[in-house]
Amino acid sequence: MFVQSALLALSATLAAAVTPLEVDGNFFVNAVTKTRFQMVGVDYQPGGSAGFDGHSDPLSDPEICLRDATIMQVLGVNTVRIYNINPDLNHDECVSIFNAAGMYLVLDVNTPVVAQHITSDEPWKSYYSQYSNHTFAMVEAFKDYPNVLAFFSGNEIIDQMGPAGTVPPYIRAVTRDLKNYIAKHSSRQIPVGYSAADVRDVLMDTFNYLQCSDPEDPGDMSRSDIFALNSYSWCGAATFTSSGYDGVVKNFTGSSVPVFFSEYGCNTPSPRIFTEVPAIYGAEFTSVMSGGLVYQYTQEENNYGLVQLYDNGSVTLLGDFYTLRDQYAKLDFTTLQSVKASTGTTPKPPVCDSKLIVHSEFSTNFTLPVPPPGTQDIIDNGVSPKPVGKLVTLGDLTVKQTVKNSDGTTVTGLALKALAADQSNRKLHVYFILT
Ligand SMILES: *[C@@H]1O[C@H](CO)[C@@H](O)[C@H](O)[C@H]1NC(C)=O
Ligand SMILES: *[C@@H]1O[C@H](CO)[C@@H](O)[C@H](O)[C@H]1NC(C)=O
Ligand SMILES: *[C@@H]1O[C@H](CO)[C@@H](O)[C@H](O)[C@H]1NC(C)=O
Ligand SMILES: *[C@@H]1O[C@H](CO)[C@@H](O)[C@H](O)[C@H]1NC(C)=O
Repeated sequence: MFVQSALLALSATLAAAVTPLEVDGNFFVNAVTKTRFQMVGVDYQPGGSAGFDGHSDPLSDPEICLRDATIMQVLGVNTVRIYNINPDLNHDECVSIFNAAGMYLVLDVNTPVVAQHITSDEPWKSYYSQYSNHTFAMVEAFKDYPNVLAFFSGNEIIDQMGPAGTVPPYIRAVTRDLKNYIAKHSSRQIPVGYSAADVRDVLMDTFNYLQCSDPEDPGDMSRSDIFALNSYSWCGAATFTSSGYDGVVKNFTGSSVPVFFSEYGCNTPSPRIFTEVPAIYGAEFTSVMSGGLVYQYTQEENNYGLVQLYDNGSVTLLGDFYTLRDQYAKLDFTTLQSVKASTGTTPKPPVCDSKLIVHSEFSTNFTLPVPPPGTQDIIDNGVSPKPVGKLVTLGDLTVKQTVKNSDGTTVTGLALKALAADQSNRKLHVYFILT
């Protein structure tokens, strides 16, 4: 009897799990159906990086996660990026909520806290075993959740020419260490990549430096599995050409790894009209790119928000929320998420060589720093103590906080819709319950 009910509980949890995604050449694919996945997402860091103190993070309070995942479900997203996380907090309920909502997570392993990020300035001073241990703890904390899509080993560390001379080998080194840790300790090969600043001088050199491969070392673990850029070039009523999206398609055609926008959504002029959405999910773009994440869910001082959060837990939906929801709603997601990935040939990565790098100030040093003292030991033996994450069965999925439309009316009957197994990866679930 006990065994039976335990099994039942287990299957109840697992039945609702999304199917993990994996990298197939330059695309994300569903691990089971092998159809392509287009990321339709938002960036989620209430309070911004400055608000992160390590005592809580965006995945540590289940009531807040339930509220926000439900609102995001209404908006129509299938992926959420979170920038700053404390791996030692319990994330089981929040990750289970996002999983039930049919949403994948892209997680940065770094935070603004000392010993938890590589610095742009003198990067060698921030690369030591306590830092490595933090990044590996992130792997331990999240590797067992099926909806973890990818890890970012860095965000915009190369943001101008100065750091471009010294930082690139460190990003590859951190990527290598993370991939070695994942290979040794995770049952699933979770992709690791970099989120780049769209600074035209450094962007393509960064891309080529990180995607290239050493022909003598085909299993080179320092190669990025994915590449992302934070792109704000489509502003207002732009066009494919005026925004430079034609250049994005041209530049990333032939990429050996999946490429997507880890941030987009230029906010001048405001309010936003989000006419880049049909372009991002149009045939020309999707033939090369894998979607993107809108910056950002919460309204902060920089004025990119879709919703306004209040300290008492209530939320007001902002004008941009409805505009973005309506743009998403016009897309044909069933078709978008069911394209067969197989294109016959997987583009080969370019060979790592100084000739690949265009700007003279950008690093051409492909000899990476060796793991700092102690790091290899943690890769071999595992983080201690290990944070462990697992999906849990969820209770009541009704949102308890007050959620208001922008006109001041209260949204009633808001509850997360737990999706059946595998649902999120092929269709998007848009609910028109908000006015
Ligand atoms: C390594 O990470 C674990 C999990 O976050 C933590 O408990 C431990 O104190 C860390 N060890 C070192 C040496 O930083
Ligand atoms: C494409 O690459 C070229 C050459 O590196 C660069 O000049 C241009 O700015 C890039 N365009 C975009 C949109 O990234
Ligand atoms: C929460 O705070 C906001 C802003 O101060 C206020 O407008 C709203 O009425 C409060 N809601 C509740 C349920 O107390
Ligand atoms: C390249 O980087 C490695 C590792 O950081 C360093 O030991 C080496 O001196 C660098 N080579 C050059 C030519 O700067």
